[in-house]
Amino acid sequence: MRDGVLVALDTPTLVIHGGAGVEPGDLTPQEEDDARKAMETALRVGYAKLQGGSSSVDAVTAAITVMEDAPQFNAGRGAVFTHDGRNELDTSIMDGSSGMAGAAAGLHRVKNPITLARAIMEKSKHVMMVGDGAEIFAKEQGITLVDPAYFRTEKRWKALQDALKEEAKAQASNTPLVLPGKAYFGTVGALALDAKGNLAAGTSTGGMTNKRYGRVGDSPIIGAGTWADPGCAVSSTGWGEFYIR
Ligand code: GLY
Repeated sequence: MRDGVLVALDTPTLVIHGGAGVEPGDLTPQEEDDARKAMETALRVGYAKLQGGSSSVDAVTAAITVMEDAPQFNAGRGAVFTHDGRNELDTSIMDGSSGMAGAAAGLHRVKNPITLARAIMEKSKHVMMVGDGAEIFAKEQGITLVDPAYFRTEKRWKALQDALKEEAKAQASNTPLVLPGKAYFGTVGALALDAKGNLAAGTSTGGMTNKRYGRVGDSPIIGAGTWADPGCAVSSTGWGEFYIR
């Protein structure tokens, strides 16, 4: 029982999300169908791990990897663009049974950021790595690196162009810019409870369209974007600054 909420889950259990911030009408019927299919694949792949006796960390990693590969989500391929036209990826994972965690931010070349978060948790003495250093560690660990162009999709590029226009218009008329929902957010996440009763949580994102100054959101911050302990697992999506605060 936590904060008056009692949740009893069957084991094993896998829960995923494909991100908040998609408004009705943002997706064409085809895009919505593709997103649903990718989520179903992520659930099936992750759940098969649990059914095979693998750990909750394995299931979370597998499910998020599928969503990072699917261009419909703001994570991995299909991530949103920064103000200067780059894809900058953030991620984290936490093992609820051990309290161990791994996180990485500001990635440009790691194909599946969640695999790097996991390697940081399991193969390093650290919890968080950023930018070039994180990618050097990824290379050392044999994690797949790709040309940054791999992450680009035309839809996200157009979203950046629209955001830049709106920003310029707001500046010219001296009115505060209120972020529209359209394609600004859309993080992915997964929570798993394995047959041994252990929980894990993971999160992966491109952050916010038009972010700048090396902005890092909640997704790679343990306790803001991701948390798991023996009784609770959380993966956040939405405007990261609110979660961090
Ligand atoms: N929740 C993702 C972000 O704000 O970066």
